Amino acid sequence: MSNRNFYITTAIDYVNGAPHLGHAYEKVLSDVIARFRRLMGDRVFFLTGVDEHGQKVQQSARARGIDPQQFCDEISQQFRDLCAKLDISNDDFIRTTEPRHKTVVRDLLQKLYDKGEIYKADYKGYYSTRQEQFLQEKDRNPDGAWPEIFGEVTEITESNYFFKLRQYQDWLIEYLKKNEDFIFPRYRQKQVLEFLAEPLNDLCISRPKERLEWGIPLPFDENFVTYVWFDALTNYYTAVTDKLEFWPADIHVIGKDILVPPHAVYWPIMLKAAGIEPPRSILAHGWWSINGSKMSKSTGNFVEPVAFADKYGTDALRYFVIREMSVGQDSDFSQTQFLARYNAELANNLGNLVNRTLNMTNRFAAGAIPAADASTSGDLEKELHSLWEKTRDEVLALNEGFQFHIALERTFAFVTATNAYIEKRAPWKLGKSAAPADQAALRTSLATMAESLRLANTLLYPVMPAATAKINAVLGNKPAENWRDELNWGTTLTGSKVAETAILFPRPTTSDSEKK
Ligand code: ME8
Ligand code: MG
Repeated sequence: MSNRNFYITTAIDYVNGAPHLGHAYEKVLSDVIARFRRLMGDRVFFLTGVDEHGQKVQQSARARGIDPQQFCDEISQQFRDLCAKLDISNDDFIRTTEPRHKTVVRDLLQKLYDKGEIYKADYKGYYSTRQEQFLQEKDRNPDGAWPEIFGEVTEITESNYFFKLRQYQDWLIEYLKKNEDFIFPRYRQKQVLEFLAEPLNDLCISRPKERLEWGIPLPFDENFVTYVWFDALTNYYTAVTDKLEFWPADIHVIGKDILVPPHAVYWPIMLKAAGIEPPRSILAHGWWSINGSKMSKSTGNFVEPVAFADKYGTDALRYFVIREMSVGQDSDFSQTQFLARYNAELANNLGNLVNRTLNMTNRFAAGAIPAADASTSGDLEKELHSLWEKTRDEVLALNEGFQFHIALERTFAFVTATNAYIEKRAPWKLGKSAAPADQAALRTSLATMAESLRLANTLLYPVMPAATAKINAVLGNKPAENWRDELNWGTTLTGSKVAETAILFPRPTTSDSEKK
């Protein structure tokens, strides 16, 4: 048990639209890590929130004809509701329009300005409104046109403030070379180094108020607001300014699209320049497509996570995204695949183990889990015990390395093995015999299946907090707050009264399974 401080963050979501599957996934993934760390004994601080300033939000508010703050209030609430719906155990929810955040951003800017890290200069160049960034010649397509992602590109000249990014380029390269585990997956660290092979431009951190009002005014020149990325990244620091024992952050969980340059280049350099320690690591996850195509509201290829969780259950959604995606790689969210896993893994495999355990304990032991009879423990029990030990050790190591999809696969293989054990022991046959040896074997088999279920269920808690709590309740199991003793094969359930039945994963209706 470590007892150390562990600070984890998600990206803060733009409030220019409703939450989607990508947002849901990132929160669930971070939540699984946070819950796992708590079980390992860490003191966790888990932050999520929303990114409320910038051009996109200003435009979306204007399009609706409402004040940007009112617009942010509305959409932010949807992201809060998403966290509640998904059972996210965040300790704080930050909004970049909050006074606590504006103060920290302005203090940081003033500090950098006073240190000479920020200067004013004229800038003439091509500007993408959609991406809110100045473009360079190298950003053009080979045919000279601007890539579509930039939207409308116009040439402008304006006076702006610049942050001296370039003077920290060598420091960052050294830092990355020294800290090979700074970015997960590791191969993405190479991408950052490739990006750093070219000289960096200093970062334009201001936007003139005539062009953009919806931002934090620069403390040293109120005619400008702060560039939205400089503002947004600072949120990670804002949230812990009153508990700096959590800084540096242990892990920033983000999507691969915002790794380079914002998180891997701007953020460590901003901190370094301000004399603040850089974060310990960044985890860049992959992207979800839906039924084989890019997520897009306009084509209707969109999973609305709250509605989906309402329909199939929060834990089923959590389970699917964690089981399906290898952290770092892309995945496809297909309805067919979701239902296949739901039925085979949750309803049949796990659901059956729960129901059999309850049924047989009720039928053959008056609802109280018996003690195993040492004299009858045979090879089948020994096999299951050693499979458990192997499973547990592997799952702990896999969780440490963010290989949650394989950890779930191993845990479910143990559930499968327990179901196979029950088939072989056939307690329903033993129960028909009054012979003392058969009765002893019956008690052993009932105790063994209940203990196996308790153990598998314990490992599943970070991914399915509600379903595992239900299973604990029907088993009469009271789990501890951490995994000090929880993962050892034992006898804590002996004498425990089990419930009659449990409904965990009801069958989706036929019309759902036909839907593609
Ligand atoms: O980028 N699959 O906000 P955002 C997986 N405000 N993840 C996805 C995804 C998909 N299809 N689409 C988006 C921003 N995401 C900034 C962040 S942090 C200081 C500021 C992920 O709402 C995306 O990669 O566009 C990002 O990590 C998060 O959702 C929020 O994206
Ligand atoms: Mg985005």
